[in-house]
Amino acid sequence: MSFSISDLLADANFEQPPQIAQVQNKDEDDQVALFDSDTDLSEEEMEELVNVDNNSSDNNFYIQDKINHPELNIVKDSSMDSLVELLQKKKFKNIIVMTGAGVSTAVGIPDFRSPNTGIYSNLGKFDLPNPEDMFDIDYFLYNPQPFYFLFKDLYPDKIKPSKTHFFIRLLADKGLLLRNYTQNIDTLERLAGIPDELLIESHGTLHSAHCVGIKDKPGCHKEYSREFIKEKISAKEIPYCTECGGLVKPDVVFFGEELPQKFFDSYYEDFQKCDLLLVFGTSLKVQPFCNLIDFAKIDTPRCLINNRLAGVTGHPRKGFDFSGTFQKYRRDVFYKGNCDDGSEILAKSMGFEDELNELVKNAEPTAIF
Ligand code: OAD
Ligand code: ZN
Repeated sequence: MSFSISDLLADANFEQPPQIAQVQNKDEDDQVALFDSDTDLSEEEMEELVNVDNNSSDNNFYIQDKINHPELNIVKDSSMDSLVELLQKKKFKNIIVMTGAGVSTAVGIPDFRSPNTGIYSNLGKFDLPNPEDMFDIDYFLYNPQPFYFLFKDLYPDKIKPSKTHFFIRLLADKGLLLRNYTQNIDTLERLAGIPDELLIESHGTLHSAHCVGIKDKPGCHKEYSREFIKEKISAKEIPYCTECGGLVKPDVVFFGEELPQKFFDSYYEDFQKCDLLLVFGTSLKVQPFCNLIDFAKIDTPRCLINNRLAGVTGHPRKGFDFSGTFQKYRRDVFYKGNCDDGSEILAKSMGFEDELNELVKNAEPTAIF
């Protein structure tokens, strides 16, 4: 699992992260479709890397460097206290927040991969060949019913955004949010009032829908509203296009489909500009989204707020390095706990805890489906 010094030195482009796709190229064929990462480690393997022996000779290179050059330690250790200390010293102005399903579980929407409670553990009644087929475009065109009927089961009748959504909204209000990259399709960011231009719904959204045709017959792409889908699903009907009879599919990115153009147009410049990266409630298992954390500059502080470890690789350029061992700068912090508790700590240290509580208190629940 460890990387030798020669591996590190051989890496000539060490300070330049690889690009996800041809960034400037707007040709759809060159873009990257959504896919499950098959290279990730188990939680135990990640734990091992986080608790790695800093004195082992394999890891001495960077440790020694950090002892001799204290400026390489952006944070003193991987605790939230270190980030709080940093927030009190420096005003970050270009904060990127990456979010996953864990920011919505507190308000009643299950995540995907949590054992027992996650969506993928609870699809038995739909009789799918694989749980991921629920969000697979080929399967959808072959059998659309499970996808449409999932949401009625899944979403509470009325829902309001979580404290974490409102924390992000407040970052936007204060001019500190560079962008919120979310994987969620539940539209709670919109409900929380995060402005459209600061939001990148990387896996699409339930907010709008288009005709996608049927198997072997492309659709006419006519746009439909969320209300159209809502009415059909409530009546237990499949939504078909009034023009061509194709399936009307919410604008959610399925496995095998490309991410929205806005993602490809924005991520590279955004992450180069980012001065603080906050990652909330995601297992970081789906590509290309999970790779975004590698695009922050190598001395940009990054903080994962999640109830279990995620994104640890032990690689000098990829993923988080909570041990402060594998990467040149020590800059990664892990808060193991609830997203909303993490948001509260951050809001407090940035001086807007009361405003946050007020927003949460005054929010009105709304029906999504
Ligand atoms: P996952 O279910 O994979 O990960 C959610 C993470 O949040 C897990 O590590 C949980 O342990 C953690 N978590 C849950 N509730 C939490 C809470 N209240 N506080 C802190 N942590 C919490 O969800 P994503 O990473 O968002 O794509 O999944 C990524 C993509 O995989 C989704 O966008 C979806 C799915 O397939 C599509 O459907 C296209
Ligand atoms: Zn159509």
